[in-house]
Amino acid sequence: MSHFDVAYVRSQFPALRRVIDGRPVAYFDAPGGTQTPQRVLDAVTDYLVNHNSNTHGFFAATEETDAILEHAHRAAADFLGCDWTEVSYGANMTTLNYLLSEALVREMEPGDEVVITALDHEANRGPWLRLAERGIVIREVPVDAATCTLDWEAFESLVNPNRTKVVAVGYASNAVGTVNDVARAAKLAREAGAWSVVDAVHYALHGPIDVRALGCDFLLCSAYKFFGPHVGLMYARAGATEHLEPLRLRTQEQRAPFIWETGTLNHEGLAGAGAAIDFIADLGERHVAMARDRLPAGLRGRRRAVVAGMLAAEAYEQPLAQWLREQLAGIPGVTLYGPPESSPRTSTVSFTLDGFTAEQACRALGARGIFAWDGHFYAIRLVEALGLIERGGLIRVGLAPYNTAGELERLVEATRDLSRSVR
Ligand SMILES: Cc1ncc(COP(=O)(O)O)c(C=O)c1O
Repeated sequence: MSHFDVAYVRSQFPALRRVIDGRPVAYFDAPGGTQTPQRVLDAVTDYLVNHNSNTHGFFAATEETDAILEHAHRAAADFLGCDWTEVSYGANMTTLNYLLSEALVREMEPGDEVVITALDHEANRGPWLRLAERGIVIREVPVDAATCTLDWEAFESLVNPNRTKVVAVGYASNAVGTVNDVARAAKLAREAGAWSVVDAVHYALHGPIDVRALGCDFLLCSAYKFFGPHVGLMYARAGATEHLEPLRLRTQEQRAPFIWETGTLNHEGLAGAGAAIDFIADLGERHVAMARDRLPAGLRGRRRAVVAGMLAAEAYEQPLAQWLREQLAGIPGVTLYGPPESSPRTSTVSFTLDGFTAEQACRALGARGIFAWDGHFYAIRLVEALGLIERGGLIRVGLAPYNTAGELERLVEATRDLSRSVR
């Protein structure tokens, strides 16, 4: 296919059939969690109906469970570009990051430093900030409120070869879509002998991830942001983890990736996560012609298909997002927030509308079947820096591959009506 087959994509998502007051729902809430394709629903149901069991036994259901969990790990490895033993699953990104911070702090001494950023979601700040109780010094890279981008000069000066032990940075801002140069951050960390921890939760829906090319030690994301169920996953680079002592039981497997997987996992969630990645691979196989000129050489099998799927979705969404920004910019009272047009960004568009708090605007949109989020989305330092806390934060419109130009027209029209109503 040389164009993106959005009709096919939409046909895969039963939720898109929902109607409110005679109007089909337009889901623009993807940065809070995407909708779920039929094959993921089927995988979850099939697991619970036909294979529900615990692991490592000697009867059919337990052996099938082992195979399904391994499939989830192998699919995630193709999603991230690593070995399957480097991917661990957990409750969600936040919980995995707390586990990680607890493991890394054991290797630190009071006075050691962790670098975090003001652009990040609290999930990649809170676990590190807590280490201050144990004498770890936290350094924060400021954000430039005018461009919603990191201050890289400050970043470079804050990473210290003698003291920095961790550099924690987001791949993309879930509030305004800024994509950070995480390879640069990982390089700074490496040169200082520190670990790099990348929060890829928002980015994961918007472009292919290649952990080897990024050169990071840890990268975390959540399957519910890319069509899967509510489970989190973490890449931990083989070689970065040998001496670490994560919280775990002596009875669990002591090797990667299981050493990070405490308790019984959400098996049906992992079944769905594997199916979500297969769904992306299916998109890639259907749209390989769209992605061919951007596909790195040497990729094979599902990894190649996943990268093609992400590139095709990105190529579809980026012009839609640009069109949306242009239209919103022309509506009286709208202020857009995000990086300059020339900077890398996801298809997430955030704005305020004079005369409305973000909540009031999202309620009015919601009544028209347009689902968009309001608030700070836990990216609270950024929203503080933008001076928007009192106004209830931002109105956030997040695109996913199932959104259409027609839905965006509805959103623009509704925003225009709201703007007129107070002028
Ligand atoms: C950028 C970013 N990081 C981290 C998180 C937290 O992820 P989880 O809900 O899996 O803990 C989110 C959730 O919205 C997010 O958008």
